[in-house]
Amino acid sequence: MSAAGAFLQALQSELGGTIRFDRFMQEALYNPSFGYYTARINTVGRRGDFSTMATLDRSLAAGIAAWIQKQCPRDVIEIGGGNGQLARDILTSLGWWKRRSIRYHLVEVSGPLRETQKKILRGFRVRWHESLPAALEASRGSATLFSNELVDAFPCRVLERVEDDWQELHLRIEDREFRQILQPCTLPDSTVFQHPFRVGQRVEVHESYNRWLQAWAPLWKSGSLLTIDYGHTMPTLYHRRPQGSLRGYAAHQLLSGAEIYQAPGRCDITADVNFSDLQAWGESLSWGCIPPSKLAAFLGPELPPRFQSAAEAFQILEQSPHAETH
Ligand SMILES: C[S@@+](CC[C@H](N)C(=O)[O-])C[C@H]1O[C@@H](n2cnc3c(N)ncnc32)[C@H](O)[C@@H]1O
Repeated sequence: MSAAGAFLQALQSELGGTIRFDRFMQEALYNPSFGYYTARINTVGRRGDFSTMATLDRSLAAGIAAWIQKQCPRDVIEIGGGNGQLARDILTSLGWWKRRSIRYHLVEVSGPLRETQKKILRGFRVRWHESLPAALEASRGSATLFSNELVDAFPCRVLERVEDDWQELHLRIEDREFRQILQPCTLPDSTVFQHPFRVGQRVEVHESYNRWLQAWAPLWKSGSLLTIDYGHTMPTLYHRRPQGSLRGYAAHQLLSGAEIYQAPGRCDITADVNFSDLQAWGESLSWGCIPPSKLAAFLGPELPPRFQSAAEAFQILEQSPHAETH
């Protein structure tokens, strides 16, 4: 049995016979010894297991650079830098003079990706941090923050509609295979449950992202947060998607259903982001926001026609602490 299999088997016994899906995803992506992001990933992009908008085209970097210029910040914090290409293209777009006036921070939990970023960003003034609280402390709580395709990499809870209730996905290892088991649950805080769904509908809730926001929000005093990711607001997010949006990627191949669980640590796992949740979670922290909108509109004429349809799948959300909702 692999190291990952042995670890998960022991965890399953410790947890009483099953592993809730978000815990499985946490270990599969971030376990220090076999997690996909912490131990396995080499890079993101054409030579990695998956590409992101940032690794396919520079228009995203140009759009974010223009947004940063409007904020006039001293400190800019990028969260989850991938292969570092987005940071390099943003800093290049900002130009030498503007670059001199800002301090660019990168928050990255993945050791291998931090090394890749350091190589691609050689010659640029960038400070790395392992956590957002550390970057906020270095910025004295005043910073312009942004992330691209970060939220979708946070572990999510997976729930399924049953008659007049919801049950939650757990996994059980039996004969070296992962079996799916639905169990009764306490519902997470999410806008998804305000909508009537048919029996069998699966949904995902990025509860770990909400917990992460709550942990650092008190340290953030001023600035703006731009969140870019694939997903949508409710109820469009699950329109014609009865199976939900959970999926995996390995060597640019899409994995679905049980394939996602069979090789923990060897593939990326992701789910579309519910932007109604991001807005609601920010509001519960008294953050104001410009309501979610399409990335294509944010990028405008910068977006080449060949990326128009890909960008349609992306949303952006701009939030700030203690601000009015627009
Ligand atoms: C899907 S990749 C996106 C990379 C990059 N933003 C891009 O657009 O190409 C997700 C990134 O977020 C990082 N990450 C995941 N959780 C994180 C966290 N809690 N704090 C900082 N980085 C995180 C991963 O290691 C990875 O670099």
